[in-house]
Amino acid sequence: MNNREELKRRAADAAVVQVRSGMVLGLGSGTTVAYALQRLAELLRAGKIENVCGVPSSIHTEIQARQLGIPLTSLDRCPVLDLTIDGADEVDPDLNLIKGGGGALLREKILAQASRRTVFIVDQSKLSPRLGSHWPLPVEVIHFAVKSIENYLTSIGASVELRQTTEDNLVRTDQNNVILDANFGPIKKARELATKLADRAGIVAHGLFLNMADEVIVAEEHAVRHLRR
Ligand code: A5P
Repeated sequence: MNNREELKRRAADAAVVQVRSGMVLGLGSGTTVAYALQRLAELLRAGKIENVCGVPSSIHTEIQARQLGIPLTSLDRCPVLDLTIDGADEVDPDLNLIKGGGGALLREKILAQASRRTVFIVDQSKLSPRLGSHWPLPVEVIHFAVKSIENYLTSIGASVELRQTTEDNLVRTDQNNVILDANFGPIKKARELATKLADRAGIVAHGLFLNMADEVIVAEEHAVRHLRR
């Protein structure tokens, strides 16, 4: 395991420590969450925690969780989650986040907002002085509106790329929408931007997760830090 993967694993393990028997969990998506799923499965197998089930934030996570034997449920059956564990692409000093690098932002946001508590797990490379410094902002859009939303995002200052696979096929989300990666550079007024995006018909979700993290666990070379709001 290389160093970055080891850091992801450490952040994930530190989050899973917070899982208690009987909890309903939101299961985020991504490579860091994959380590949390592994750890959770280990604890369940060892009988150290019991009667836990999860709502997956993506088809990919659902498949991983099933393979690991983690019991799953749905948001219909359990509309309030005890704890959501998820990853992030960028974390600012106020614990606001950019998410959606893996395309699962809509369901991830639904789970975060349905949770009593949220914990995001990252390695140190995800820390950023200002959102947008390292990553473009993923914007999930219905295909019908893609050109018009691209123009809109450009008009408010972004350079925009339609997310495609290496074979030049459109990347489709679990809702069968497409993703525009909108590079605004460092975002000065994230709340204002979030409102503009939320108000625009055709945009299904955007990757700004503002005031949604109760805790961010950051794995660094020599320590695991718990940042809380
Ligand atoms: C999925 O769409 C994302 O929001 C992920 O949670 C985020 O990209 C972090 O993924 P990694 O843990 O793979 O970096």
